[in-house]
Amino acid sequence: MAKPKRRFSCQACGSVSTRWQGQCADCAEWNTLVEDVPQTVFSAKHHLSSGGRAIQFEALDAPSEPLRRRGSGLAEFDRALGGGLVPGSAILMGGDPGIGKSTLLLQAAAHVVRAGGVAVYVSGEEAAAQVRMRADRLEVSDAPLRLAAATSVRDILTTLGEMAPPALLVIDSIQTMHSDQIEGAPGTVSQVRGCAFELIRYAKENGVALVLVGHVTKDGSIAGPRVLEHMVDVVMSFEGERSHQYRILRSIKNRFGPVDEIGVFAMEGSGLAEVGNPSMLFLSGREDSVAGSAVFPAMEGTRPVLVEVQALIVRLQSGATPRRAVVGWDSGRLAMLLAVLESRCGLSFSSAEVYLNVAGGYRLADPAADLAVAAALVSAMGDKPLPANTVWFGEVSLAGEIRPVAHASIRQREAAKLGFSRACGPAGPNAPERSANYVGIDLLPKLVDRILANA
Ligand code: TYD
Ligand code: MG
Repeated sequence: MAKPKRRFSCQACGSVSTRWQGQCADCAEWNTLVEDVPQTVFSAKHHLSSGGRAIQFEALDAPSEPLRRRGSGLAEFDRALGGGLVPGSAILMGGDPGIGKSTLLLQAAAHVVRAGGVAVYVSGEEAAAQVRMRADRLEVSDAPLRLAAATSVRDILTTLGEMAPPALLVIDSIQTMHSDQIEGAPGTVSQVRGCAFELIRYAKENGVALVLVGHVTKDGSIAGPRVLEHMVDVVMSFEGERSHQYRILRSIKNRFGPVDEIGVFAMEGSGLAEVGNPSMLFLSGREDSVAGSAVFPAMEGTRPVLVEVQALIVRLQSGATPRRAVVGWDSGRLAMLLAVLESRCGLSFSSAEVYLNVAGGYRLADPAADLAVAAALVSAMGDKPLPANTVWFGEVSLAGEIRPVAHASIRQREAAKLGFSRACGPAGPNAPERSANYVGIDLLPKLVDRILANA
């Protein structure tokens, strides 16, 4: 019989290799490769095509119960979830350390309790006294929440088995949980996977909405195996800059709803406050007459959010390699836009440092931001402030065309409501009503001419 191949898997990222190495070739962590226990190997005699039970096929149009949802008491949280917590579902919530995951979930749990449900909050990271202190600060300490500091999944499930299933179960965090039936320290791939599996099974069998907090690695993905993201129904990320007040809750995967709605919160002295109308948040402190600042009407799901894009261009005297630094936007996209401005519009950035910043710690993902970024860059380049009453949106192609984007009319309307009477965007049949307030531009060079001529 052939010798079974040995297999090593990285305990940090889950990648598999056929030989042991000191450093993982995928995530570059040291000493994380561990040999996998060989799985049962089926011999040729062992066919899987007989001996099983027949499964039932179901009709797609068979009647099924409508999805029940339960409000978490935080409207912005419910919005990001697509309408509230679904009993029997598992949610994985990732986010940088200190961004406010524990705060958000403690608040949500307290709200569920106040609305008459039972909520259990298990902290594996903090002692009960620390959580109590936070609850005091959040002014929720009177809520009869079931709070425990525990890390053993067996203890947690035994305790839960002896009480009526709660409406909400929060596990903070999955990386601190461990099971005595699985080898390895807490936080290793096998522990995280095994513990999550047991907790999710409990949640599904008992109609409990389960929230697992997940640590995030340096590159922003949820630590532990990717398979965790496949196991849960909803993956959410809690984003923001720690130095800024605003936080955005985004769902990245949602088996029960759309993934484009966001929840917006402000971190205040007494916890996270909901921001129901975020459209003006990321504009504060704008100076009218500064070159390099452009306002972009971004769309987050069904809500427009106005964001300020700032560009700074520093000419270099020496031949040093110029820097490009981006906060809040994709650096690859900036490189592309600079290349288009160089080759299609005749601008030169080769001896200039380029800095781009999205105000307020906001992260732009909307492709329609291209035109606002281009406007900010050209304005900074020519030292020509943009008109203070104008917003910019449109996607820029490699050929330098300005492409139509979704929701152009909603963007223009929201901007007008907030005092930006003019919008500059793509020309063409899909452009909003041709009015004196809308400037349609089809090619990037025309935008450059317009700005440099101080339109
Ligand atoms: P926390 O919820 O502990 O973050 P995470 O669980 O994501 O690591 O939030 C920690 C930060 O939030 C901390 O730096 C202080 C700040 N904070 C406030 O500003 N106000 C508050 O009421 C609370 C509870 C925390
Ligand atoms: Mg925490």
